[in-house]
Order: sequence, then structure tokens, then C-alpha cells
Amino acid sequence: MDGGENTDNKQVYAVQLLQACGGDPRQALEQLKIAARTLRTAKMYKPKSEEVVVAVDNVSKTYKMGKAHVEALKDVSIRVHKGEFVAITGTSGSGKSTLLQLMGGLDKPSKGVITVHDQNLSKLRDGKLSRFRNRTIGFVFQFFYLQPFLRLQTNIEVPAMFARTKRSVRKAKSTELAGTVGLSDRLKHYPRELSGGQMQRAAIARALQNDPDILLADEPTGNLDHANAVAIFELFKQIRDERGATVVVVTHDLALAGMADRAVHMSDGRVVS
Ligand SMILES: Nc1ncnc2c1ncn2[C@@H]1O[C@H](COP(=O)(O)OP(=O)(O)OP(=O)(O)O)[C@@H](O)[C@H]1O
Ligand SMILES: [Mg+2]
Repeated sequence: MDGGENTDNKQVYAVQLLQACGGDPRQALEQLKIAARTLRTAKMYKPKSEEVVVAVDNVSKTYKMGKAHVEALKDVSIRVHKGEFVAITGTSGSGKSTLLQLMGGLDKPSKGVITVHDQNLSKLRDGKLSRFRNRTIGFVFQFFYLQPFLRLQTNIEVPAMFARTKRSVRKAKSTELAGTVGLSDRLKHYPRELSGGQMQRAAIARALQNDPDILLADEPTGNLDHANAVAIFELFKQIRDERGATVVVVTHDLALAGMADRAVHMSDGRVVS
């Protein structure tokens, strides 16, 4: 029917893949093999729970910059189930961060509906939305955003301060979480005294401080070597298994995406598989 369009799409993907691999066809082939493995696992995967935690329904996002419009998301629909570990992959500019920000209520869609725990995020006013976010969602960003003048323990406690949690409860929780991420012996350190992998783990501990049901991470391993990146993904799995959290991680690394329950691939503002 639309065989021509399909062939065009395949050519576009092939060119994008080759560009992403710095023009090296052997590396592109290797990535393609990993992608095929990821897709096979994705097809076999059945969510453990039927409960939908995040529903993205026909969402579009257009950024307006003067007269220019950028369509960052085009009619995207995704459902994430309770306790799922989902990776979002795609080339630079394909809309991954935009999608994650909308899922976390950091921005609003131009069209469509984002529902988190049966709550339409667009219907929440600013104050209620920040409280909802603070209680329900933990964010992990690529560049950590740790406070340089706070010791590790206090850094981990920041979201609990916003939630006005009692000091003793905060301390107990940050101590427990430092243990979870393997940083018990670094609690008194300042961020500049930590390695990149340790800072990233501290940012994950901070995201878990208010026991969020949902953990959203945008390129959390972008600054790490492969071994440390794998360790972070293992940690996400552990958090999902032990705390029952739902985890959505953006990564451009297809091998890492293969560690998730399923991978959602984006291209030019659309979900392509
Ligand atoms: N605040 C903004 N204002 C205008 N355009 C934006 C804004 N944020 C993102 N965009 C545009 O929207 C598109 C999607 O951007 P997004 O950051 O979601 O991509 P991405 O897949 O996360 O890319 P990367 O892998 O490089 O982080 C891009 O074309 C980008 O230039
Ligand atoms: Mg991004």
C-alpha cells in the first residue's frame, strides 16, 4: 500500500544510524544487531502488572520561538505499567527529553493528555502540580545538579526538605539510600570530592528520597564509562525490584536500553517502535 513511504523511512533510519555511528558501517551493523535483540525481547515482554501508571495519549508538543515552530512531539501515545522498566531511545533531537519532561509534569503538552496515577496533569494548578511531582516522581538528570556547597547527605535530603519532612526521618532515609547506592562511606563528602559515577548515584539517591512511585531519568549515564553506565542500569533494576518503582530512562545507548524490560524508539518526534 504505502511501500514507497516505508522504503523512504528505512533509508532515513539507515542514514541516521550511520551518522550516529560516526559514519562507521561496522559499528552501525553492531548497533543494528543490538537493536534487533532489543526488539525481540520487547516482543516477548509482557508487563507484570496491568495497572497503567503513566498514560500518554495523542500528545503533541510544539515549541514556539517567535515565528518559528518546532514540532518536538507529534501525536505520541505510550502506556507505562506499574513496576515496568522502560528505556526511551532515539537520535538527538527526536523528542526524548521533551517526552520525559511532559511525563513528569515539568512542561505541558500542546495537544493530548498525560495521565499519571489517573490524574490528568494539565488539570493541576502550579502549586498542586509541584506537590504531586514532589510526592510521586523522582527525577535524575544527566548533569546531576547536586548543590556544590552541601555535603552528600544533605544533597540527598533536598526533596524531603521541600516536602517538610522531619529532620530525623530525613536523616534516617538519606542514610538508608546512601547504602542502597553504595555511598555509605561518602556521606560527609562534598560533590567535588566524588567521582562522576558516585555523583550520579547520589543524584539517584536524592530522586528516591520521597519514595516516589515513578523514577524518570534523562541520559543518566551520558557522562559515564560503560562499566559505570551498566552499574547504574543495574541499580535501576534493583530499585524497581526492591521498591516496586516504575522506571523510565532516556538513553541513546542501545546496549543499555537492552537491559530494560522494553525499549521505545523515537524518531523525529514520533514513536516508531
Ligand atoms: N525549549 C525549547 N524551545 C525550542 N525548541 C526546543 C526546546 N526544547 C527542545 N526543543 C526542540 O525540540 C526537539 C526535540 O528536543 P529534545 O530535547 O526533546 O530531543 P532529545 O531527543 O532529548 O535530544 P538529545 O538526545 O540531543 O538530548 C529538538 O528539535 C529541539 O531543538
Ligand atoms: Mg535530551
